[in-house]
Amino acid sequence: LDSVEVFDGICFPGYLHSPESLQAACAFQFQDTDVLLATFPKSGTTWMQQILSLIFCEGDLRPIHHCPSWARMPWLEHISFQGFLAQMDPARPRLLTTHLQARALAPALKKSNARVVYVARHPKDVLVSFYHFHRMASFLPDPSSFQDFVDKFLEGKGFYNSWFDHVKEWLSLLQDLNMLFVTYEELHQEPRRALRKLSEFLGRPLGVQEEDLILGHSSFSFMRQSRAANYSLVPREIMDPARSPFLRKGVVGDWQEHFTPEQNEKFNAVYQAKMSDCSVCLPWSMD
Ligand code: A3P
Repeated sequence: LDSVEVFDGICFPGYLHSPESLQAACAFQFQDTDVLLATFPKSGTTWMQQILSLIFCEGDLRPIHHCPSWARMPWLEHISFQGFLAQMDPARPRLLTTHLQARALAPALKKSNARVVYVARHPKDVLVSFYHFHRMASFLPDPSSFQDFVDKFLEGKGFYNSWFDHVKEWLSLLQDLNMLFVTYEELHQEPRRALRKLSEFLGRPLGVQEEDLILGHSSFSFMRQSRAANYSLVPREIMDPARSPFLRKGVVGDWQEHFTPEQNEKFNAVYQAKMSDCSVCLPWSMD
């Protein structure tokens, strides 16, 4: 199950992607009405998928609660993408997702005015979340130890390669694409403000009642018990919530429970070296 598909030097799970599906994603023809959510894994993708889906149906759950997030907002590079695309309502904007690096999609995106929402999260929390995800997803190798996982993450040698490059590459396109940058932390700390920023960017103004519905239906507690959002529709042999639930903790700063002072120091040194030339000033404190 945990085969590797190497594409443009980047490792993808072979269970989810093929050379053809990865190639097809790069050649995708975007429409101006498309909305593309781009993230490094574990940055709040499922959360933003829920928020975006809800914005487009004004908070009403009925159109979405039968349809799991991966079918509602399919990954461009997924092996079943064409099937999901065929089931979309042609009268509605297409909501799409990707974990691909910006360099893979920039040429296709620049040919349209499609909207891109890029979500990033504090990289230490991404690392911790990704570590636990590796424990529960059988299409990813079981980490031998947390230390080993930290080392691989810092070297950009794990699946999806380098968090640092992913964030830098996408953010370098902020001015060139029709793009909005949102952090996991602002969704957490100022959810209503973040929601308004999103709805304005999408040209979908919301009333306060609709905002309340969206905030309720995208809360951690709501999503945790929603089969369309919590990945419980995936067979246990593929994702096993008994090992670690998909919606695991949903907090900011869980890394402090995991990192040793040495791991933290090493992380900070790599972060400084890798992110010093980032085009955007990132809001996280590394301490
Ligand atoms: P944790 O493992 O830290 O709990 P992705 O969807 O990109 O794979 O990211 C998964 C992470 O987002 C998990 O983090 C998950 O709990 C968190 N998440 C999902 N929905 C959330 C929500 N409504 N509120 C807060 N965090 C959420």
